[in-house]
Amino acid sequence: MSNAYLVTGGAGFIGSMLVRALLERNDGTVAVIDNLLTGREANLTEVAGRIVFHRTDIRDAAATARAISGATHVFHLAAIPSVPRSIDDPVPSHEVNIDGTFNVLRACAEAKVKRVVYAASSSAYGDTLVLPKVETKMPQPKSPYAAQKLMGEYYCSVFTSCFGLETVALRFFNVYGPRQDPSSPYSGVLSLFMKALLGRTSPAIFGDGEQSRDFTYVEDVAALVIKAAFAPGVAGKMYNAGNGGRYTLNFIWELLQRIEAVTLPAKYGPPRAGDVRDSQADTTLAVRDLGHAPQFTMEEGLRRTLDWYRASLGA
Ligand code: UD1
Repeated sequence: MSNAYLVTGGAGFIGSMLVRALLERNDGTVAVIDNLLTGREANLTEVAGRIVFHRTDIRDAAATARAISGATHVFHLAAIPSVPRSIDDPVPSHEVNIDGTFNVLRACAEAKVKRVVYAASSSAYGDTLVLPKVETKMPQPKSPYAAQKLMGEYYCSVFTSCFGLETVALRFFNVYGPRQDPSSPYSGVLSLFMKALLGRTSPAIFGDGEQSRDFTYVEDVAALVIKAAFAPGVAGKMYNAGNGGRYTLNFIWELLQRIEAVTLPAKYGPPRAGDVRDSQADTTLAVRDLGHAPQFTMEEGLRRTLDWYRASLGA
């Protein structure tokens, strides 16, 4: 039990899956920082007795530093996600995603944390002529959210070079899976599709539905995040954490209707501001340096996710 893991945003859907994966390793203590703004305590219910929970907002530098002191590995997932939310209400997302990230990194440097793994975002790429998207491509953020997450990456690399803090930034690519909260208009599209499917209503699709995403199953992301905490020779670097596939919204909605044997035509509306058209990860570097090995096909991930929503929504 030599490691002391700390997950910021540990009550979120990705964070709470990571907490479970860390507990399964049985090689250290696990603590969580979360302000429960988008995370939910219910996501941690059955593991609550095995973790330390800090109800802390990363905008509070002193409280964040207190919670981080003693940690050996920090997984920084806390954020206000959502591209449209960062356009509708840019101040909180700026403060959490940039100032909060700075507070976390500063506390980690002072606490002499061995390594920080940061949840960066594929949105940093913006639109590219060439797919899949490679880490060497010049970033072109199209939204405040994308710019904020990119700034976090830059801060990670600077904390490595200037303060000797080992960091690894992973650009997540549209993560989906159990516990993703479908209750907000800013929720991830697949959680909204699941809710629509099980409630037998039509989902909204913004634009023509031919935009594509490299949807990545949450357990694959959690596994990669842990690999990034231990891989040698990667401090200060950034990697794509996608699955390497690419699916359009129309394709996914068709597939879900087929799985559930229903016909529910989507309602199409205007495209969303700040939206990226296509997204697909080149996973070469993550495979080579981190041992990335995604286990879940799109269909398998969707089936597992659907099973979870069916049980949790009582549908
Ligand atoms: C972006 C990032 C992703 C990040 C996420 C955080 C890209 C390519 N991806 O996701 O890595 O984790 O922000 O929030 O930038 N849509 C509908 N109907 C809906 C909701 C959404 O059609 O009801 C559409 C959106 O317009 C978009 C797609 O579905 O084209 C995906 O949207 P969303 O799930 O919000 O994620 P991104 O903005 O792609």
